[in-house]
Amino acid sequence: MASWDPGQYNRFADERARPFRELVARIPTAGAVAVVDLGCGPGSMTATLAERWPDAAILGIDSSPAMIEAASRLQTPQLRFQLADAGSWRPQRGSVDVIVANASLQWVAGHETLLPAWAAGLDDGGTLAFQVPIAAFDPGFGEVAARPRWADRLAGALGSTGPRSATPVLAAEEYVRLLSAAGLTVDAWQTTYYHVLPGDDPVFEWFKGTGLRPYLDALDPQAAQEFSAEVREELRALHPREPFGTILPFPRLFVVAHRP
Ligand SMILES: C[S@@+](CC[C@H](N)C(=O)[O-])C[C@H]1O[C@@H](n2cnc3c(N)ncnc32)[C@H](O)[C@@H]1O
Repeated sequence: MASWDPGQYNRFADERARPFRELVARIPTAGAVAVVDLGCGPGSMTATLAERWPDAAILGIDSSPAMIEAASRLQTPQLRFQLADAGSWRPQRGSVDVIVANASLQWVAGHETLLPAWAAGLDDGGTLAFQVPIAAFDPGFGEVAARPRWADRLAGALGSTGPRSATPVLAAEEYVRLLSAAGLTVDAWQTTYYHVLPGDDPVFEWFKGTGLRPYLDALDPQAAQEFSAEVREELRALHPREPFGTILPFPRLFVVAHRP
């Protein structure tokens, strides 16, 4: 399986940073001593958590060795990084003040059981905050993957019911119910960013670093090239280049759940 590539991921660093900042800005917890960033990627956003909570021990967790290697260069006495699967991470009861997961939980299955387990790890006054692309979001490659030529080859790799239903992301209402039942006060909202991207095929380049990876990993190199060509064409048609750049509408769901 191809690994995450911090360089490709960082190509759109400014656009990717904004939802993280808007998520963290809504966290009401002051004076945190233990902060965890699940799916921390290259660690640049995790490092900003040290500015917000200067007295906290901050731990970034990611399952990609390449991402953790990049993040480890930012390590300080306050900021640590660890190679681990967020899906297996379980905090001790009441041991964490802030859990952040920005643009990572769409890669982690089992939200129905994970979120209550993480909620139980929050100390009084603690917050669980995450941001995910909404479940229905398909910038165009899901449509290509569903074509008869690709559907069978991709279905096995992406889940038994096929590429379109591969996301573990739930509806906003489900998160509100789940976390309210866990005793948290929930603030959930949705925002669509209209990113204006520069260069050739920028929507393809954006998703090559994230959402397209499982599709490309599932195919042999020749098939991956042919699939990529079809995806590029589809994405160009859906998101045409304009004189000022290419518009990528990106709907994201934010959930900030606080233990009073
Ligand atoms: C789109 S990046 C987000 C990175 C960072 N949170 C940010 O906001 O820039 C998604 C990250 O989730 C990580 N990831 C995917 N599945 C994971 C899992 N099961 N456990 C931990 N990290 C995971 C990937 O390795 C990748 O670094």
